[in-house]
Amino acid sequence: MPKILVTYRPPGDALDRLADLGEVDLWDGTDAMPRKDLLARVGDADALYSMLTDKVDEGLLNRAGRLVVVSNMAVGYDNIDVAACTSRGIPVGHTPDVLTETVADTAFGLLIAAARRFGEGVDYIRNDEWKKWDPNLLWGTEVHGSTLGIIGFGRIGMAVARRAAGFGMRIIVSSRRRAAQADDLGIVQVDLNELLIRSDHVIVAVPLTEETTGIIDAAALVAMKSSATLINISRGATVDTDALVGALRSGQIAAAGLDVTDPEPLPGNHPLAALPNAFVIPHLGSSTARTRIAMANFAVENIARAFAGRPLRASVNPGVPSRPPQD
Ligand code: DGY
Repeated sequence: MPKILVTYRPPGDALDRLADLGEVDLWDGTDAMPRKDLLARVGDADALYSMLTDKVDEGLLNRAGRLVVVSNMAVGYDNIDVAACTSRGIPVGHTPDVLTETVADTAFGLLIAAARRFGEGVDYIRNDEWKKWDPNLLWGTEVHGSTLGIIGFGRIGMAVARRAAGFGMRIIVSSRRRAAQADDLGIVQVDLNELLIRSDHVIVAVPLTEETTGIIDAAALVAMKSSATLINISRGATVDTDALVGALRSGQIAAAGLDVTDPEPLPGNHPLAALPNAFVIPHLGSSTARTRIAMANFAVENIARAFAGRPLRASVNPGVPSRPPQD
């Protein structure tokens, strides 16, 4: 029986499905699988069912002589050294499409919550400060009819744009590739600096790469309007956290809505967590039962296909052919 190392108990019946494919070695801790345990247990694994918190790098792959597939239960795969997997002939699976609309919903939720100061409103009640209706209370920034800048125009960026169109927003995008879909939707493509200057709200929807690490740095925050909201639903490291804390404190920008942070998990005593104009949630972008179960099953399917010598349902290195586990 091939062995499948699973680094976190996945939702739904994914474990039963994996058990139909091989012998499951599950890390069932409450925390992310410690690196030392991952390294100790990957040696005899034929498949790795990984989470975005597991670093799949040279150090791990050097100990993983049997691996024929890495299947990440996430659409993002910045935790994986894909080139190192490719050079060893290991296909890397991820879970696109099934979470696109759910993450776009999260982006819009964060945008409205941060721009309209919902977090401060909740605190106002919890602190027992609500004594009368006040026409001057907690004025926010309009979302409908404003200009939304989307950085990155992949599946999720596009799904955000569809929602923004329903809110009567002007949409501008900045994307590494010329996005034909943007032209089709009448969306204007601009360079990053122009996007930052013109947008009332900015949403970061790029994958984390060397190029996008710190794409929102101190200079980017200076370029933004002082009334602007920054939303991040990609990965925390696309934003320079210290610069963001400074910009939120000084009023350089008005608010931020963050699903992802750097560091992650964000300690409760982190300065970002204490800022009234930062609306921060713990990486819940795809967190609905239906979506998380679909992702879990998708990641199982990628392993099933690899074991059968078939192309994965979604591979990030599609040139690497699947090969069944060794006997
Ligand atoms: C992903 O799949 O990469 C998301 O960040 C999970 O919500």
